[in-house]
Amino acid sequence: MKDDRGWIPGARELDWIEGLAAPVEPALAAIEAAAAPNHIPIVDRDSGRVLSALAAGRRRIVEVGTAYGYSTLWLALGQPAGGTIVTIDPDRERTDLARGWWREAGIDDDRITVVSAKALEAFAANEPALAGPFDLAFIDALKPEYERYLDALIPRLAPGALVLADNVLWSGRVADPDNTDRTAETEALQAFDRRVLADGRFRSTILPVGDGLLVAGFRG
Ligand SMILES: C[S@@+](CC[C@H](N)C(=O)[O-])C[C@H]1O[C@@H](n2cnc3c(N)ncnc32)[C@H](O)[C@@H]1O
Repeated sequence: MKDDRGWIPGARELDWIEGLAAPVEPALAAIEAAAAPNHIPIVDRDSGRVLSALAAGRRRIVEVGTAYGYSTLWLALGQPAGGTIVTIDPDRERTDLARGWWREAGIDDDRITVVSAKALEAFAANEPALAGPFDLAFIDALKPEYERYLDALIPRLAPGALVLADNVLWSGRVADPDNTDRTAETEALQAFDRRVLADGRFRSTILPVGDGLLVAGFRG
């Protein structure tokens, strides 16, 4: 909501925050540089900084959608020393490159496990690495599958876990009052947002950072 001065934060504030923030690690900058020309969708840097802050104290993390491992690395850098991440992506070409950047950032190989499979299939097969319990789950893969990722994740969450999901405002299409974009992605994200924010097992909100970051604290 706008405050009573009618002000909402914009580009000037984001630049100011970025100016105050710690410099981006070279491996993160390298991923940003590699992702853009190859059209690999990664979280915005602002969202990466939020992921890193929310990873503090979260020892066991699961991620759906790795790509070049940009969000994975933000999470790993925010975790306590020795924290672990299980990240799922069927695209080995991408995740092999990701491993190189994680090493460059000084993350030991045994901290990050890649599950090279479609997430719903890996969950259904009870892939051992996905047994949990997890202290934080980050969803960033196929938009029409977000609700089913959540269904698979809930039994794997520790009490007090955080669930985060990217792209939940979908460049403004989700909240468009005219609902002009009727794609499967937009409709799925609208349903996902409505469902999580109405689910009494979570205390949740959406941060208008990047493409919209859902933050849900699991009370179960
Ligand atoms: C938006 S990108 C992930 C970006 C990454 N989280 C980041 O910010 O650096 C989505 C990824 O989901 C992967 N993907 C596609 N289908 C998938 C599935 N069924 N299960 C898990 N991941 C999938 C794609 O290969 C792609 O790399």
